[in-house]
Amino acid sequence: MKKHLLKALVATTALAATAAPAFADGEVNIYSYRQPELIQPVLDAFTKDTGIATNVLFLDKGLVERITAEGANSPADVILTVDISRLVEAKEGGVTQPVQNDVINKDIPANFRDPDGDWFGLTTRGRVVYASKDRVNADTITYEELADPKWKGKLCMRDAQHSYNIGLFASMVAHHGVEYTENWLKGVKENLARKPDGNDRSQAKSIMAGECDIALGNTYYVGLMKTNEKEPEQKDWVEAMKVLFPNTADRGTHVNISGMALAKNAPNKDNAVKLMEFLSSGEAQKIYAEQVFEYPVLPGAEPSEIVKSFGEIKPDTLPLADIAGNRKVASELVDKVGLNDGPSN
Ligand SMILES: [Fe+2]
Repeated sequence: MKKHLLKALVATTALAATAAPAFADGEVNIYSYRQPELIQPVLDAFTKDTGIATNVLFLDKGLVERITAEGANSPADVILTVDISRLVEAKEGGVTQPVQNDVINKDIPANFRDPDGDWFGLTTRGRVVYASKDRVNADTITYEELADPKWKGKLCMRDAQHSYNIGLFASMVAHHGVEYTENWLKGVKENLARKPDGNDRSQAKSIMAGECDIALGNTYYVGLMKTNEKEPEQKDWVEAMKVLFPNTADRGTHVNISGMALAKNAPNKDNAVKLMEFLSSGEAQKIYAEQVFEYPVLPGAEPSEIVKSFGEIKPDTLPLADIAGNRKVASELVDKVGLNDGPSN
């Protein structure tokens, strides 16, 4: 089944006719920014439960443009992606439609979904602090403290304009306002060990190399590094660090989401909504969260054992929609203070 899907989806309208006979209950087409192997287990569980076949088109860019170009004939039913920026981009790009559904709204807390129903969070990822096991004694930290001169020359991060950092900075704007955040970013800049560079995993490598003591990184990369058989040196990087969950004593740790949306012209709308209901359920969230080393949004649903081993997360309850609304100003502040230029001396 899986093999012919991608080709079939490219052929657009031919798809329904080819896939339907084998599945009496029809099918649903998924356009995904998430890797097929990450979502396949949960889609298999859906098909087992409902008899509805799933077809996945994986894209690494241009999802909104593609659905726009396909227009009214787009086969896209459900969009799966990571990061609030991409969910908002889909909504603002006009390729989603609202869903008001009691089952979904009961499972997914209001702060993790769009007030209009145009996108829904499925799992969360914390933007945490990776800290050297050897050189950092503290076992608590706050984002505010990252601007404290006590960390001068000790902080590393990836490109400050990356959506993961912008999400965090936008949450600072939402909590503290623009002026505070600008000053905070100035302090953060002076604490940098070097110009922002690399990806989240390479910050862990920099900690092991002694280049920095603390760094910003997402939680799931810790799981990915710990279990990386293809590049086992990543296990050493993660061995050199511990995870500090910022602001656990007050508002909680900034989280971003992976999520879903109903495509604007979904040809299999009923099946799409059934899939969205399924994905919001405890059963599905557990399978999905295990695959991606993330936290289920459903209250009470447990993350995997590996994720639990980093420590417990208390997620900031700030609505993701508020973070989305402050992304632009956060990005402007990053440029204004020259965060990507690194420390001034
Ligand atoms: Fe990532």
